[in-house]
Amino acid sequence: MNKYDSEKMAGMLRKYNYSLTPDLNSADVVLLNTCSIREKAEQKVFSKLGRIKKYKVKNPNLVIGVGGCVGQISSKAILKRAPYVDLVFGTLNIHRLPSLLETASKGNAAVSEIFSEAEQYLEDYPISRKSGIQAWVSIMHGCNNYCSYCVVPYTRGREISRKCNDILNEIKVLSQHGYKEVTLLGQNVNSYGKGTEEGITFPGLLEKINEIPGIERIRFVTSHPKDFSKELIRVIKNFDKVCEQIHLPAQSGSNKILSLMNRKYSLKDYMEKINTLKSSISGVALSTDIIVGFPGETKQDFQATIDLITKIEFDSIFLFNFSPRPETVAAKLPGQVNEKIKQKRFNTLLDLQKGITLKLNKRLEGKNVDILVEGKSKTNLDKLTGRTRTNKIVNFTVRAGTAAKLKLNTSADGDEIFQKEIGSEVSNAGKGYLTGKIVPVKIVRSGLYSLDGQVIN
Ligand code: 5AD
Ligand code: SF4
Repeated sequence: MNKYDSEKMAGMLRKYNYSLTPDLNSADVVLLNTCSIREKAEQKVFSKLGRIKKYKVKNPNLVIGVGGCVGQISSKAILKRAPYVDLVFGTLNIHRLPSLLETASKGNAAVSEIFSEAEQYLEDYPISRKSGIQAWVSIMHGCNNYCSYCVVPYTRGREISRKCNDILNEIKVLSQHGYKEVTLLGQNVNSYGKGTEEGITFPGLLEKINEIPGIERIRFVTSHPKDFSKELIRVIKNFDKVCEQIHLPAQSGSNKILSLMNRKYSLKDYMEKINTLKSSISGVALSTDIIVGFPGETKQDFQATIDLITKIEFDSIFLFNFSPRPETVAAKLPGQVNEKIKQKRFNTLLDLQKGITLKLNKRLEGKNVDILVEGKSKTNLDKLTGRTRTNKIVNFTVRAGTAAKLKLNTSADGDEIFQKEIGSEVSNAGKGYLTGKIVPVKIVRSGLYSLDGQVIN
């Protein structure tokens, strides 16, 4: 979501004749887009600001801006701790950025603008996307769930769904520009459409996107298990472009902890949904988020999470040590777990999952998979890279001779593509020999983080 917001900021400023520079020495404006989901992310903002300060000493006209979630909830703290900051803006003010920057660059006093609620979903953001093949598309923002550990409802406001036609039009334009894959974004995509006049549900939206010519793959994040419906499973199964890759955050395997987290589902509910997914969608890849060391987590609660991970065998998990966040209920709960225990439990789960991921990846050796080609592999320029429908990264070789051509035709790395995108705003998909194409690849070797393969035929 934050990366997507950065693409919006870049797009917005490009419209006002700004361009991106990789060199801080030549920058007129430096913007930090910030995350406050865990304390560490928030601390990073202040250490980064400390480093950026020296550029302001060299160039007093430099405008330093801080946006995103930390800006939203800690604007006063930012201006107090880093008085050289010229502008603080929130998650709902991105559309105001050009005008705020103008004010900040003219005046001496710092500018701070934070909207607490959005009346409606704001349209017509120009977006400078990093990739010319895969695009993030926001379908809603905000969250009404108030999981007891989570700061998001405070940083991104109430849930608002975007109009179905606006989403479809954006994706149609993306398709015309050569994009092949969209990832629909929302804090809880399964509640898309609730309370809107249109009354289109998330599965209904997926069906409509599935009809858009040129788009080959549809993904979405994030799903809340309590709203993950049978109807959604039916759509994933029956609509060919919707990828069989599901991220379903469990957070914990203990009913006691789930209840303290205010997650509104039990372990049994979660397991039932996973079992239905596994039995109805062949080859489905599952991933999850787990919080380790939530207040009150005993050895038994932790064991329940180990059992959940062992039983389900996720393709991957995102592990987080519990981090108390301001305003959240969990920050004040008794039984806060000591950091050493948290880290020990974290490492236990990490090791467990590494074994599972490798085992599942190894099962793909010798199998043929369809890869959407993204460009050259960053780690080995003689190889191409792309992803399976299940979102696994595959680096692969093509026939001798073809590789040489590809070398000439594709960009060297993501950053370069980013610069290009910002410069042209037109997608570069299709410019490369195979970039943007779906090719069949045989997996020859599986690692933990990526697979190696060879194009078939
Ligand atoms: N501490 C640790 N992890 C958190 N997450 C959200 N809030 C916190 C917190 N306070 C994790 C959850 C969520 C993911 C995006 O971040 O697992 O699903
Ligand atoms: Fe946070 Fe829960 Fe909303 Fe996800 S669903 S953003 S974890 S409050």
